[in-house]
Amino acid sequence: MKALRAEHLTSGRDAKAWAKPTLPEYAFIGRSNVGKSSLINMLCHIKKLARVSNTPGRTRNVEHFRVEGTLSSERPWMLADLPGYGFAKTSKTERAAWEVMIHLYLRERENLQCVFLLADSRLPPQRNDLDMIQWLGENGIPFHIVFTKADKLSGPKAQANIAAMKRELKKTWESLPPMHTTSSETMLGREDILGVIEEVNAAWMKGA
Ligand code: GTP
Ligand code: MG
Repeated sequence: MKALRAEHLTSGRDAKAWAKPTLPEYAFIGRSNVGKSSLINMLCHIKKLARVSNTPGRTRNVEHFRVEGTLSSERPWMLADLPGYGFAKTSKTERAAWEVMIHLYLRERENLQCVFLLADSRLPPQRNDLDMIQWLGENGIPFHIVFTKADKLSGPKAQANIAAMKRELKKTWESLPPMHTTSSETMLGREDILGVIEEVNAAWMKGA
């Protein structure tokens, strides 16, 4: 399996500190420790591109990366590793600062094509994930849901959690967002997600 060429560009809390929005961009968001940084490393097939940690709440800034290529294309794109939410030890002030930064990023980032919202496949629907999904929907931001850590659980148990998420979303949504199941250990879902990115990159090129 080929590693993609990728480099870390910037780490920052506001638009001035973020990499210039010159390429189609994809953001990875989710609860603290859900596996955002691990998924980014898995997609690029580079062990230590994004910092993975056993200590939740490690990624505090928006981390921008430039990546070259997907499955069968060499087109460059950008990705953003966003700090996680729902870490119990975060102070109220920090939580408020997180919200301001994330909402600003999601609303204003002009090259953002799609958000990948990560949810732990081992857990039933979590309130903060549902709130984030609701917010993305209300703000018209395209997103996919990615169920992580599929290697840690038997298939049927993960399927039950995914089905519960679908049931929950159907209460307020007419149509469901695209969903993917991944494991950063086994690389499950890599082609699936890179395929989405490749398709959107191609459409972006046509529109550019
Ligand atoms: P924050 O930056 O703190 O918000 O966390 P994060 O969402 O970036 O999570 P990270 O990638 O740092 O992973 C958290 C922990 O989960 C690490 O110990 C990873 O090794 C583990 N992990 C992440 N993805 C997987 C997976 O697919 N399978 C398994 N078994 N472990 C995983
Ligand atoms: Mg992280």
